[in-house]
Amino acid sequence: MKLFSPFEIKSIKISNRIVRSATYEKMADEDGFVTDKLIKLYVNLAKGGVGLIITGNVLVHISGRSAPKMICLHNDFYIEGLKKLTDAVHNEGGKIVIQLSHGGRQCASIFLHGRQPLAPSAVYEPVYKVTPKEMTQEEIWEIVESFGKAARRAKEAGFDGVQIHGAHGYLVNQFLSPYTNRRNDYWGGDEERRFHFLEEVYNSIRENVGYDYPVMIKLNASDFIEGGLTLEESLRIAKRLENLGIDAIEVSGGIVESKPDERPVRPKIDSKEKEAYFREFSKEFKKTIKVPIMLVGGIRSRSTAEDILDKNEADLISLSRSLIREPDLPKKWEKGKDTADCIYCNGCMRFMKLEHVKCTQLEKKR
Ligand SMILES: Cc1cc2nc3c(=O)[nH]c(=O)nc-3n(C[C@H](O)[C@H](O)[C@H](O)COP(=O)(O)O)c2cc1C
Repeated sequence: MKLFSPFEIKSIKISNRIVRSATYEKMADEDGFVTDKLIKLYVNLAKGGVGLIITGNVLVHISGRSAPKMICLHNDFYIEGLKKLTDAVHNEGGKIVIQLSHGGRQCASIFLHGRQPLAPSAVYEPVYKVTPKEMTQEEIWEIVESFGKAARRAKEAGFDGVQIHGAHGYLVNQFLSPYTNRRNDYWGGDEERRFHFLEEVYNSIRENVGYDYPVMIKLNASDFIEGGLTLEESLRIAKRLENLGIDAIEVSGGIVESKPDERPVRPKIDSKEKEAYFREFSKEFKKTIKVPIMLVGGIRSRSTAEDILDKNEADLISLSRSLIREPDLPKKWEKGKDTADCIYCNGCMRFMKLEHVKCTQLEKKR
């Protein structure tokens, strides 16, 4: 069974093909430091048999806070706590990668002490109902460098690799997308210039961690919005990243403006047909590039996961919501279970109302 066969991403030896996709936890303390609760969550995922864990989005620069109680990494102070987290996961035989993130326009002013969010262009954001400030050259370079510095800290803290959050309408995606990037300078204007921010972020990370360290990205295959990124352009972005030396690409899609059934976290995956909703996209990525591909989005059953791997439509299977409900789903799958208990109600997404991210269906049963 391919699902339980090992895989390697550069130096990371992964025991199976199951990845925990980045999932914000709301479990750091108010200042972004690691808590015992956070360590327990990740230990349980490692014990549950997840081959490769990707953390929730981690803040690289204070101007990019997209949620409360996010893990922070914009200062060396954070390294010590994160080292405890990676040690705890490694002690259970797990592997852990950190997701480096900046929210850009997808940050409420309340998370930024009343300051206006930053973005490539001043394009209104409908969720937090805010028009961001167009970034200056200085602001752009400062944030580029903050990705590199955060990667250096992540390596020092013992993470097995880093993943750039380049999807879901966050800052890197905002620069890539013609919908949110309306600039006409080095950072925007045509496809090549819209790629510059990601290219500089990638180069800054490499300068800090070297070429032997695994550097991955989560990318939108499509923004699912008129005037946004299309599959054709995303495949060209993937090709550019392959030429630069990226070590893995996780295929996702959608931004906040996309329709609910075209967003990254689609609700009600209650039939086989609705499962693996970015499958057709990862298939195209697999045809175009040789870099390992992770597929995320509504993969509910072991049989679907196996079918994707058997048909060579992805190399790794990424899960988020099903692991919130059942952190030991990989072990259960190995023993023969097929369908995850998660009903994809998206209760776990209402994090502003929750003390921390959790399965609200399980909560009801208690
Ligand atoms: C509560 C919650 C938090 C999430 N946080 C992140 C995040 O920090 N970074 C990210 O790239 N995706 C995040 N996602 C999206 C997931 O990684 C994943 O792409 C999406 O949920 C689809 O996978 P699934 O159907 O297995 O849940 C989050 C999803 C949920 C439900």
